[in-house]
Amino acid sequence: MAKTFKYVILGGGVSAGYAAREFAKQGLKSGELALISKEAVAPYERPALSKAYLFPESPARLPGFHVCVGSGGERLIPDWYKEKGIELILSTEIVKADLAAKSLTSAGGETFNYQNLVIATGSTVIRLTDFGVQGADAKNIFYLREVDDADKLYEAIKGKKNGKAVVVGGGYIGLELSAVLKLNNIDVTMVYPEPWCMPRLFTSDIAAFYEGYYANKGVNIIKGTVAVGFNANSDGEVKEVKLKDGRVLEADIVVVGVGGRPQISLFKGQVEEEKGGIKTDSSFKTNVSDVYAVGDVATFPLKLYSEVRRVEHVDHARKSAEQAVKAIKAAEDGKTVEEYDYLPYFYSRSFDLSWQFYGDNVGDTVLFGDNKLESPKPKFGTYWIKDGKVVGVFLEGGTPEENNAIAKVARIQPPVESVDQLAKEGISFASKI
Ligand code: FDA
Ligand code: NAD
Repeated sequence: MAKTFKYVILGGGVSAGYAAREFAKQGLKSGELALISKEAVAPYERPALSKAYLFPESPARLPGFHVCVGSGGERLIPDWYKEKGIELILSTEIVKADLAAKSLTSAGGETFNYQNLVIATGSTVIRLTDFGVQGADAKNIFYLREVDDADKLYEAIKGKKNGKAVVVGGGYIGLELSAVLKLNNIDVTMVYPEPWCMPRLFTSDIAAFYEGYYANKGVNIIKGTVAVGFNANSDGEVKEVKLKDGRVLEADIVVVGVGGRPQISLFKGQVEEEKGGIKTDSSFKTNVSDVYAVGDVATFPLKLYSEVRRVEHVDHARKSAEQAVKAIKAAEDGKTVEEYDYLPYFYSRSFDLSWQFYGDNVGDTVLFGDNKLESPKPKFGTYWIKDGKVVGVFLEGGTPEENNAIAKVARIQPPVESVDQLAKEGISFASKI
């Protein structure tokens, strides 16, 4: 028997949870909304998985980090959905979407019909097996996307006390996981192909600080090469990582973070795509009527830079979800919502470090502040300058006020009279804006 809903949110991650809250805020009748997720738990703040979830002492566990605690909101535990009359359909993978017929089919053969669909299927990890890397299906080679993955990794960390880990990838997962593995007293070696870590955001100067800091914490870093194969023992457990440059590293655990890809295959050929995601307008409406796409899967107009982009970060997942639901509700009253005017915001935390970035990392850069590894509390940053204006700011170790100040700078893009002066003034340039 098919179930029919006025609204269906497909996905159970960050944007799905924030969308559900916004529906409830805007007014919802019992039974109107269903949230369908292949995960077994209600939406949670995914960033916790690569940080506090893996801490050796008092790790974060659900229900502690269900959405929307990450942005200071109320925690939506499963009872909340019940109270609001929202059907929370968990452990249910949708394997077929027919946008013309407005229906979804699950792996278990159930059919869900909808009037309005919010696609919130997020990203999936890129696997080394996707490139046919030899031995990449050995046991104890981990990826991290969902709580289930984090549970498996946590068990392996506990089971391989004082063991060795190789972390493949020098992006967000690589840096956050190397730190948390080290906190668990695991011997860690990071391997990545680029000349410095996090090249999609960091300049070589920014990266040099983090690489030095990690080295001081005992993390080994091997740059400019990739893993080309894995050797396993007779139980099929990974034991060695073979690198392209000929080196062979011992490993009890391998964590791979070589990027994500938006999960949009269900909709192939049915909806317009751009830049690897589902194309939307500034209300996250797709070219198919009554179908919206939010979070990691959406390629949307980024008004500030007059171009369309896809953003794989939590702040956008939250805000895009809220925008889409407001637009759906407004349309029912024949109204429209204000254009989405997003300021890109990324952040990360590892060891005692914490950085934030706002804006666009294009143009020339100016490094400022104290980036000495021996400083008790390093605080440094970088301004990106394009066409004589500051368009992006990175800050490590900022106070909440300073982080607000850099957000403001990235938004208003003040002109720069002298680059030397900017370097000298450092964070005080932002603080006085
Ligand atoms: P999200 O991935 O959260 O959710 C997608 C949901 O859809 C999942 O529940 C999935 O199971 C479900 N789904 C997919 N296909 C389905 C199907 N066919 N049927 C049913 N359900 C389906 N960002 C940041 O700014 N700061 C940070 O510190 C971090 N940290 C971080 C750590 C880790 C480990 C990861 C993996 C990611 C981050 N991120 C981050 C990125 C951030 O978490 C990410 O951008 C958001 O979770 C995106 O939200 P979405 O709702 O789009 O996808
Ligand atoms: P990423 O894009 O940040 O980094 C991928 C890295 O993989 C590259 O920097 C490169 O070093 C490396 N790489 C690529 N091919 C490789 C190869 N063959 N061998 C070795 N290394 C290779 O992706 P990620 O770190 O996997 O993160 C996945 C997703 O999770 C992204 O969407 C990311 O935004 C999100 N995430 C975000 C945060 C955060 O914002 N703090 C934290 C964790 C995860």
